[in-house]
Amino acid sequence: MPSCSLMGELMPREVKRLGLGRTGQPCDCSPHLRAAAEHLRRKDLKISQLQAELGRPPPAPAQPPEPEALPAIYVVTPTYARLVQKAELVRLSQTLSLVPRLHWVVVEDAEAPTPLVSGLLAASGLRFTHLVVLTPKGQRLREGEPGWVRPRGVEQRNRALDWLRGKETAVGGERDPPPEGARGVVYFADDDNTYSRELFEEMRATRGVSVWPVGLVGGLRFEGPQVQGGQVVGFHTAWEPERPFPLDMAGFAVSLPLLLSRPGARFDPTAPRGHLESSLLSHLIDPKDLEPRASNCTRVLVWHTRTEKPKMKQEEQLQRLGRGSDPGIEV
Ligand SMILES: *[C@@H]1O[C@H](CO)[C@@H](O)[C@H](O)[C@H]1NC(C)=O
Repeated sequence: MPSCSLMGELMPREVKRLGLGRTGQPCDCSPHLRAAAEHLRRKDLKISQLQAELGRPPPAPAQPPEPEALPAIYVVTPTYARLVQKAELVRLSQTLSLVPRLHWVVVEDAEAPTPLVSGLLAASGLRFTHLVVLTPKGQRLREGEPGWVRPRGVEQRNRALDWLRGKETAVGGERDPPPEGARGVVYFADDDNTYSRELFEEMRATRGVSVWPVGLVGGLRFEGPQVQGGQVVGFHTAWEPERPFPLDMAGFAVSLPLLLSRPGARFDPTAPRGHLESSLLSHLIDPKDLEPRASNCTRVLVWHTRTEKPKMKQEEQLQRLGRGSDPGIEV
């Protein structure tokens, strides 16, 4: 319910309650009574919010009963607080809800788990694990620095690897790492990309490291492996093609047993620009052994989309007047 219509409904109630006049009449009460009315209005608003929460349906079971025979897909998503965070996570969680045998590993860049992410995970109906690690100061992107200067989410992805290896404790969701010998695949899915549900079935049977093209990345329509006779023979990219693995984070998945068999395999926070993916993959595989998926890398099933940063000019103006949007409403 938009707050403006709430106001309209609540004011008369308060006016009546305070004995100030008949419903609908303008209130010319003293500052003292106005403060009291404002106090009541806030209480009523809180009550409506709580009522709305109570009335919300319980999280739907996301998936039909899961065939245990399928290898599980562990989707690792680093995330950090910003205006569009909830929108991005809701969109991603609802894509992931379409995928059977999926386990979402969400790693917050924060000191402690936030109510927004905890609540969203609990309501998602997905199998999940909630981890938290704050990016160290020196690695943090500074105000105004462009995103490519230092890779984001490195500590968070490494924390997920540590959890998969049984070396880290979760703050929410399923705390136990996958059981020994479990079949599975690990995919690093940032919260701002767009994923086709088909992509997950392409990666499910990964034996070592599987690869596919990524749309709208690297200043190109797509970037991706070049395949001949079912083998990766090169990479279509405009930028530093001599990198060992010129792949985007969204363009590969790793089998869980392979990852667990190489305890040293992790992302290097000091890797030069564009070499983060290579810093992990060099521990795992030779480029010629990459497994091409998505019809020999001819289909784009994931897109490097970016959400525009919302402008908050009016919000700031209203806040200066003490009339900003209710901070009690999660956005
Ligand atoms: C990929 O290419 C190989 C070799 O040309 C072919 O045998 C195979 O069927 C292709 N796979 C798909 C899914 O198109």
